[in-house]
Amino acid sequence: MKIEFLNLGRQPIANGFRTKDDKSEEQFFDLRIGFDDETNLVSLMGFVDKSKLFNDEYVYVSSGSETMRRHFSAIASMLKARFGPSAILEIGSNDGVFIDNFDPDSTVAVEPCGNFAEITNSKGHKTFSMFWNAQAADAVLAHRGPVDVVFAANCMCHIPELLDAFVAVESVLAPFGIFVFEDPSLDEMIRNYSFDQIYDEHAHIFSVIALSNVLELAGLEIFDVERIGVHGGSNRIYAKRIGDLSHDVTARVGAAIGSEVALGLDSMDTYKLFAQTVRSNCQDLVTTLSRLKNEGHRVIGYGATSKSTVVYNYCGIGPGIIDYISDTTAHKQGKLSPGVHIPVVPPTAGGIEDGVDYAFLGAWNFKKEIMSKEKAFIDRGGKFITHVPSVHVIP
Ligand code: TMP
Repeated sequence: MKIEFLNLGRQPIANGFRTKDDKSEEQFFDLRIGFDDETNLVSLMGFVDKSKLFNDEYVYVSSGSETMRRHFSAIASMLKARFGPSAILEIGSNDGVFIDNFDPDSTVAVEPCGNFAEITNSKGHKTFSMFWNAQAADAVLAHRGPVDVVFAANCMCHIPELLDAFVAVESVLAPFGIFVFEDPSLDEMIRNYSFDQIYDEHAHIFSVIALSNVLELAGLEIFDVERIGVHGGSNRIYAKRIGDLSHDVTARVGAAIGSEVALGLDSMDTYKLFAQTVRSNCQDLVTTLSRLKNEGHRVIGYGATSKSTVVYNYCGIGPGIIDYISDTTAHKQGKLSPGVHIPVVPPTAGGIEDGVDYAFLGAWNFKKEIMSKEKAFIDRGGKFITHVPSVHVIP
């Protein structure tokens, strides 16, 4: 049974940036998070209709940062070297930043957002514009037959019907095929109090414990796991069919589960404590940013991320505190952030150079890339503020 442990209040669609003249009623939903005491899966208490989130107007571009471009090229090289797939499926291929590292004669992709499916189709990678489910698996089998590798990045955690999705993966695997997928790590979220990993698109935040339980129900087992730095700390999971002896189970799997048990990810008490700290960190953030504003400092947001939508709406931080948000994504620029309606501007239009004293780091998951890119801002005394793991000025 799923039991609620944190209520992040009424929230808009996290990526629902609005044009300034949009008079339509904005949609809000309750963002509440629970823990399933049987599978230990952490999920939203109520899922948002997926066609409202993933459609032809979807704005998140996977190749939007240097960090992610390098990340996907590295994982593609590693998969080629370690597994040498002759047929590969990507679920949630976005703009093709991963799949385009492979020969189109060996690829097939599934991507529900039509605008992105069109991009990869035009690059020669057959892409079905569908949600991942049994029908999509049938389309893949009819087009390419069983595949050696199924890859999905930041996609499986988006799927409310998780067990059905895993069953569909199992159905397309060749006899010794493997399933490699990466998503934000619950272990990292709990350790860092990064509650803004939770938003409408993130139907689940995965522990290795919970994944192991749900994959098993689909006839799959984890044989390797890696902790990777992207998206605020993620796990890359390698799974195979139960009974497939062609891949040894590494010691990393037991170690990851052991460390999650030590952190208490199998216990509701851990989540209750997490929720208490999140509430006090949020109060701290409002107090800090309001004080800076009242002292006459210019405060902006850096990165109009979906995560920052959750922070602004949960903590009640709007244009009265944050003048504007600087963001590199063309689709977000000139629009208003969801819910609290802070204007989003390109870095070139009044960006960080424009007398800004403090920048709240909405894109805290790209801290390293941003710190080196914004050296001039830092050198002239500009400061970044983050709420992860607690509110502080980044030294
Ligand atoms: P994400 O956290 O959901 O991946 O979104 C990252 C957002 O941050 C995306 O809209 C682009 C933006 N961004 C910047 O504006 N400047 C940067 O230097 C980086 C790395 C990201």
